[in-house]
Amino acid sequence: MANILLTGGTGYIGAHTAVVLIESGHTPILLDNFSNSTPKVAERIQVITGVKPMVIEQDVLDTAALVDVLNTHDIQAVIHFAAHKAVGESVEKPLSYYQNNVMGTLSVLAAMAQAGVHHIVLSSSATVYGENGVPPMSEDAPLSATNPYGQTKVMMEQIIRDVAVADKTLRYAMLRYFNPVGAHPSGQIGEHPRGIPNNLMPYVQQVAIGLREKLSVFGNDYPTADGTGERDYIHVMDLARGHVLAVNHLLAGNDSFTVNLGTGKPVTVLQMVQAFEQASGKPIAYTIAPRRAGDVASVYANPQLARQLLGFETEYTISDMCRDAWVWQSRNPNGYDEA
Ligand code: UFG
Repeated sequence: MANILLTGGTGYIGAHTAVVLIESGHTPILLDNFSNSTPKVAERIQVITGVKPMVIEQDVLDTAALVDVLNTHDIQAVIHFAAHKAVGESVEKPLSYYQNNVMGTLSVLAAMAQAGVHHIVLSSSATVYGENGVPPMSEDAPLSATNPYGQTKVMMEQIIRDVAVADKTLRYAMLRYFNPVGAHPSGQIGEHPRGIPNNLMPYVQQVAIGLREKLSVFGNDYPTADGTGERDYIHVMDLARGHVLAVNHLLAGNDSFTVNLGTGKPVTVLQMVQAFEQASGKPIAYTIAPRRAGDVASVYANPQLARQLLGFETEYTISDMCRDAWVWQSRNPNGYDEA
């Protein structure tokens, strides 16, 4: 049982991972600058688990402060979630992305070296497979990126690999997420993007509660079952459990590894819309719009390696993802702000 620092710990995936860590007997400590989250998450985690995790307001760019946190709390592993994640915004604000994501990772690694912390789990993304990959994506596929956000994820991975070559005591787990959706089944925690959502599911959820008029389906002329884009949606609770398996694997003394976290099953935009309508009982108005720049027809995981190494199997179905997303959204139309 370990004290584990979660940078970006009050964010969407961090909060869900904190729940599963607590339920597994670990002590997560959530560090965040609240640029896209709120400390109120801690009370919701307490409602679910009975334990209120410690929350520290801190930017990952402050290396000295990180060293202090790692030492003071006797941290044995870091799960590094803290990063900007919007593709379009990264094209507009590349400096902000390189600074926050790449320099943030450098800062975390430097702090870990100074404090003698040897285990890091990185939030990586299927975005590192670029646009030329042929699904299902396997971990040994060549890496590339088509936008600054994707570049930062490729760089963050590379930096950690290089540091681990030089520092034999460092062990890493690189987790390449496919499309995380859904929420904790209790409806206590979930995703609450600020402004107009970029991603499909939060947009659909906001149409369902009447906050947006209709969904634009970006393209229906792709070579897929119904012409709309295919992705590998994974329930955030499955993803969270993947992090706990990964950190346990490292803490047990195993070697570094890089794995996909996905279901391996492609689902189209219209299939997702239909599943959400069924789960919520709400009609989702949509219109067919042109393809979105940079989108590809189909992205889904080869999930074999995570299964072999970690025994990771996804448990939640598309219908569970939609049900839990709807429970969260309908009970928390203003996210963590009370109505
Ligand atoms: N889509 C719509 N309408 C919308 C939003 C999305 O039709 O309003 C479609 C997209 O065209 C795509 C699918 O829904 O076919 C999923 O789109 P998302 O934006 O939800 O997810 P992406 O697969 O495009 O993006 C995800 C991550 C990014 C990552 C990218 C590439 O959110 O961080 O995968 O791996 F960069």
